Amino acid sequence: MPRQKPQTPRHVAIIMDGNGRWAKQRGLPRREGHRAGAESVREAIEACTELGVEFLTLYAFSSENWKRPKNEVRALMVLLERFLKEKSGELQEKNVRLQAIGRLHDLPEGPLGQLHETIEATSQNTGLTLVLALSYGGREEIIDGVKSILRHVGEGHLDPAMIDTEMFGKHLYTRYYPDPDLLIRTSGEMRVSNFLLWQISYAEMYITHKLWPDFRKEDFREAVADFGGRSRRFGAL
Ligand code: IPE
Ligand code: IPE
Ligand code: MG
Repeated sequence: MPRQKPQTPRHVAIIMDGNGRWAKQRGLPRREGHRAGAESVREAIEACTELGVEFLTLYAFSSENWKRPKNEVRALMVLLERFLKEKSGELQEKNVRLQAIGRLHDLPEGPLGQLHETIEATSQNTGLTLVLALSYGGREEIIDGVKSILRHVGEGHLDPAMIDTEMFGKHLYTRYYPDPDLLIRTSGEMRVSNFLLWQISYAEMYITHKLWPDFRKEDFREAVADFGGRSRRFGAL
C-alpha cells in the first residue's frame, strides 16, 4: 500500500517568544532580539509556502505588551513599520496575502498606515494568508465579539436563541480563517498568554526551547512533521 502523506496543518499559529533572552545571552539590547526575530518570520513564511500551509498567524504584540517600558514599545513599533515597508515587495513576490487581527486602532499612526497599505497591496494574492496579531488579546477579542452580538440583537437582526459556537465565531476577528491546527510556542514557556483563546480549543500544541530568533526553517518543518504523527480525536474515539 502506498504510504499516506503525513498530514499538513491548514493553519499554523505561533507565539514568537524569547527575543529578549536571545539578546541578553549575547549582551545586546532587547531590541536586537526583536530585530533578529524578523529573519525567523521570513523563514516561517517560506516554510509555509513550501509545505502548503494556507494560514500562518503570528503573535507579534499582545494587549499586555503595552505594559512594557516605553522605549521597548517604541522600538517594537518602529521595527513593525520597517518590517512592513521592507517586506511588502517580498510578500508580493511570494504571493502572500497580509491580514491583521487585534485592536489595531491602538497602534501608532506610522505602523498602522503602513499596515493598511501592505494589506491593501497584497489583498489580491492567492498564496499563504499571513495574519499578524497586533495589540491582540484573546479575552479582548471575545469581549468585542460579545459586543458585536449584542449590537445585532439590539438592532433586531439576531435572535439570541440562534447563538451557538459557530455563530459566535463569526463575530470574532478571525471569522475569515479556520481555527489553527497547530500552535507553536518558542522559548519553552508552557502558557498561552492570552492568544487565540477561543480558536485553539482543539489545536495541537508544540513547545520548543529554541528562542524565536533561533527558530529556523528546519525547526518549522520539524514541528509540522511532529503534528503529522499526532492522532486528533476531537473528543471522539
Ligand atoms: C517576544 O519576545 C516578542 C514580543 C513579546 C513582542 P520577548 O520580548 O517576550 O522575549 P523574552 O520572553 O523576554 O525573552
Ligand atoms: C507573548 O509573549 C506575546 C507575544 C509573543 C507577542 P510574552 O513574552 O508577552 O508572554 P509572557 O509575558 O511570557 O506570558
Ligand atoms: Mg516573552
